[in-house]
Amino acid sequence: MKRATFGALLVVFGPILTAGPVLTPKPGPAPKINGPKVYGARPGKPFLYRIPCTGQRPIRFTASKLPASMKLDSATGIISGRTPEKRGEYAVTLQAANGHGKASRAFKIVVGDTLALTPPMGWNHWYTHYNRITDKLIREAADVMVSSGMADYGYQYVSIDDCWMIKPGSKDPMLVGEPRDAAGAVRTNKHFPDMKALTDYIHGKGLKAGTYTSPGPLTCAGYVGAYEHEEIDAKRIAEWGFDLLKYDWCSYGKIAREKTLEEFQRPYRKMGAILQGLDRDIQLNLCQYGMGDVWRWGGEVGGHSWRTTGDLGLEKDTRLPGFYQIGMRNAEHSEYAGPGRWNDPDYILIGVIGNAHRIDEAPKPTNLTPDEQYSYMSMWSLMASPLFYSGDMGRLDEFTLNVLCNSEVIDINQDALGKQARIVRRTDEEFVLAKPLEDGSIAVGLFNIGEAPRKLTVKWTELNLSGRQKARDVWRQKDIGVFADSFAAETPRHGVAMVRLSAAK
Ligand code: GLA
Repeated sequence: MKRATFGALLVVFGPILTAGPVLTPKPGPAPKINGPKVYGARPGKPFLYRIPCTGQRPIRFTASKLPASMKLDSATGIISGRTPEKRGEYAVTLQAANGHGKASRAFKIVVGDTLALTPPMGWNHWYTHYNRITDKLIREAADVMVSSGMADYGYQYVSIDDCWMIKPGSKDPMLVGEPRDAAGAVRTNKHFPDMKALTDYIHGKGLKAGTYTSPGPLTCAGYVGAYEHEEIDAKRIAEWGFDLLKYDWCSYGKIAREKTLEEFQRPYRKMGAILQGLDRDIQLNLCQYGMGDVWRWGGEVGGHSWRTTGDLGLEKDTRLPGFYQIGMRNAEHSEYAGPGRWNDPDYILIGVIGNAHRIDEAPKPTNLTPDEQYSYMSMWSLMASPLFYSGDMGRLDEFTLNVLCNSEVIDINQDALGKQARIVRRTDEEFVLAKPLEDGSIAVGLFNIGEAPRKLTVKWTELNLSGRQKARDVWRQKDIGVFADSFAAETPRHGVAMVRLSAAK
């Protein structure tokens, strides 16, 4: 397969992918700044943020009221430095200009204890590369996050999942060796010759680096975990420069035999406290598949997000695609989500993607229909879920990018109020979610989970709304009218209508 890159456009010559109507309008040549309007960071820690911005480059970036301990590179839009020592809110305004126009956007940096004031966004290697992951593939993913334009919409974390460590008992020469160095800290396998150089590479693009380990002796794929080396491994991960840690239960099940709440919490409480003490902001993703109702306590033990279910792609029931099954379960925990604490229903598996049942199989174009893919992204956005794409970054196509990169859909996910949509209605055929937004408007998703096209309606009384409401179709980015007491839309099988309702003047 050949790939050619022309500017921000990635052209793929290869198998024809499941394409449907592209709903997301193309961004114009003038700058448009995207991304969260609030950002949490701890006092005096390294700071890095690439301003997500579409429009024709070169773009000249400026910022007003940027704290003195930070600097902005006007050509790349990358802000770096340290957060101020003084706690408080820093109301920065970001600006971008080119020959076609200019844009500005509020960006409030909240220096305090809470990270992840909006859900993290990025890419994770698991569902494409599994145990085939290498330093080279991670670098390529970072390259594509920028060249494809994903970073211009707020995708930021480039995350390594399992399989970067030594694998005890392996016959593969790339995976064998001393699992730990003389000091006792975890070592990488030969696919990752220099972790610090790798995170430097990612950071050089203004992006962030994520990694993975387990509180158990072994990871889920049988590599070395952090058991009894939690502190030294966390320090090593921080020295390497990682910004996010996924902490996956796996073989800890053999340590925690009683399965009490205390046991479920113990390894996460420990890692949460260790990360607190490091000179680096590292988001903690709890991966223990929802045990002990993790949504009730994940935030208290230091987590910023937690998987609420098992792995996507392993569902047994086949009537509805897996993302619907996992998503509808995740939707039940809306009351527990908020800034700094997010329910995580797993990654976005569209585009060219591997098979969770048979990880040795070559990744293939998704068999989700275009309507299902729009539903997937809509549901994750309404649920304020972490948005991690996990398909093949080397084989992104226009349709997949249009699903992943709609600024108005992403704005709903990243909204500063930080509410997860609540379930308005659920029947065998209809699933309706509503998410209140910071500006007083409400985002609504009308999901057709039946097997035939269907007209779906939501009444203002169900949304605690009254008076005339303006509806905006966020996928098409178009105002579609003013409605008196309800909104209705024709929806295709497994498809969605997603609107933003705001009081009509
Ligand atoms: C578990 C997790 C997955 C992935 C694998 C890696 O199954 O839930 O997300 O991290 O382990 O082995």
